[in-house]
Amino acid sequence: MLAQVVFAVWAVLPAYLPNSSAALFGGGKPIDAGKTWKGRRVLGDGKTWRGTFAGVLSGSLLGLVMNYVNSVFGLGFPIFSVSVLVLLPLGAMLGDLVASFVKRRLGKERGRAFPLVDQLDFLVGALTLVYLFNYSWSVQNLGSTELVILFILTPVVHLSVNVVGYVLGVKNEPW
Ligand code: CTP
Ligand code: MG
Repeated sequence: MLAQVVFAVWAVLPAYLPNSSAALFGGGKPIDAGKTWKGRRVLGDGKTWRGTFAGVLSGSLLGLVMNYVNSVFGLGFPIFSVSVLVLLPLGAMLGDLVASFVKRRLGKERGRAFPLVDQLDFLVGALTLVYLFNYSWSVQNLGSTELVILFILTPVVHLSVNVVGYVLGVKNEPW
């Protein structure tokens, strides 16, 4: 069981890092350029080009390092192909953007909590992209057991990481 948890987390770790990197390196021009739709921001000031690029890049680089460690030490974890190296962090950032779009439509200001959506948007985005564009890698490494594990574990991990980020002053809210 523990081995399966470690395996599942390994397979999506490049999708876990982008949120933290975006919070660390984000800032500058918002993606929606300040535009509103029906009186509310399209995405809000919390979604910037710099944060998004930093997120995708850091996730891909992490995946590369993980591939290296995995093969050098013969750990037998999933190897990320080039497409997966991009799809996981890109999907994570896109899922987060979609969630902000929905939050603004629901009248939630930037930074307001949206329980479960804030914690799972990036996982759903990453899984959607990787299943859509690299189905064989996805079914091979992320079966139903792994998916159940990830949907239970991710909100816990996400909240814990954000509380640490909040205490360190990197994040404005602990969620
Ligand atoms: N961030 C960014 N670009 C992104 C995602 C995040 O620059 N694509 C940065 C922003 O500085 C943001 C912080 O990371 O404030 C935390 O991200 P998140 O919690 O997703 O944004 P919120 O500010 O809470 O905004 P929202 O309500 O839209 O989720
Ligand atoms: Mg937030």
